[in-house]
Amino acid sequence: MIGNDINFASELLKTGNVVGIPTETVYGLAANALNVEAVLKVFEVKNRPHFDPLIIHVSDVSEMDKYVKYIPDVLRNLAEKCMPGPITLLLEKKEIIPDLVTSGSPFVAIRIPSHTMTRQLLQKCDFPLAAPSANPFGYISPTTAQHVEDQLGDKIPYILDGGPCEVGLESTIVGIENGKVTVFRKGGLPVDTIENILGHPVELKLHSSSQPSAPGMLSLHYAPHKPFYIVHDENEWGKVIKNNEACVLRFDSFLPDFPKENQRVLSVKADMKEAAKNLFACMRELDKLPGENIYAELLPERGLGLAINDRLRRAAAER
Ligand code: TXA
Ligand code: MG
Repeated sequence: MIGNDINFASELLKTGNVVGIPTETVYGLAANALNVEAVLKVFEVKNRPHFDPLIIHVSDVSEMDKYVKYIPDVLRNLAEKCMPGPITLLLEKKEIIPDLVTSGSPFVAIRIPSHTMTRQLLQKCDFPLAAPSANPFGYISPTTAQHVEDQLGDKIPYILDGGPCEVGLESTIVGIENGKVTVFRKGGLPVDTIENILGHPVELKLHSSSQPSAPGMLSLHYAPHKPFYIVHDENEWGKVIKNNEACVLRFDSFLPDFPKENQRVLSVKADMKEAAKNLFACMRELDKLPGENIYAELLPERGLGLAINDRLRRAAAER
């Protein structure tokens, strides 16, 4: 059931149920992070392997101190400037966070969502919310309540509807490795924004393998059901035009000489923010059209374009 009753959602969470929640990045599948049985339900509903840990959500920085041992100065600086917002920090967890949440890691992923409704919800709960994206494991993340309803509606009692997600990409995951600030997942907060705040470049450690022990990013993620291909040049687009079974995803212009109804354009203004916001909804729409394959172009490799391209490449990864 979809609705906007925050009290009802908090009651469900207090009694160990799983609830779909809006955030500015993507919709989450939330449970009381301190209740192991509730967290187990999250893994079950998503069909997610237990080796893939969950992000916990809290209402403000002072709440973070309850669940993590300490926040290194450099990350506290980022937290103060970027939270609430589309960033997740990896910090050493306190005992109170169950090992199930972190898949046994001593570090917990923690973030403060900026969505008003979810902030109100968090204030009504005296526990953090463990919430992965509210999609079946491996599929495209949901950016509307209806996306959640379409795929998980029969498995969860309630989805809180906070409208379409403003950012549309998952949070950027940041931690410290070998003494250096390291980005583990590109996301809604561009890496160059983080570098500008820090005043120096960061390390990138994005998991591109399907090595399950690597926390975070399995290579096959964000994948539509249809085979998904990246198109690199005009010559390749020329071949797509001749293919009646194609669905097309473009950045800022329609593919000429090809039916518009089989295409989605992320932002006619070539605005990266708008493109990010539309990305997953467009991918879902194309996945539902009759055509057999999806062909997509990459965006310029800067700012949010880097995170968008990461999702497109993962969607196109070998299955
Ligand atoms: O924007 C977001 O981050 C959304 C919203 C709902 O908050 N959540 C989200 O969760 O994208 P999920 O579970 O789909 O992706 C979280 C990623 C996973 O790839 C997971 O492996 C990684 O974060 N992660 C979580 N806890 C971790 C930990 N303790 N150490 C390393 N990676 C972790
Ligand atoms: Mg996810």
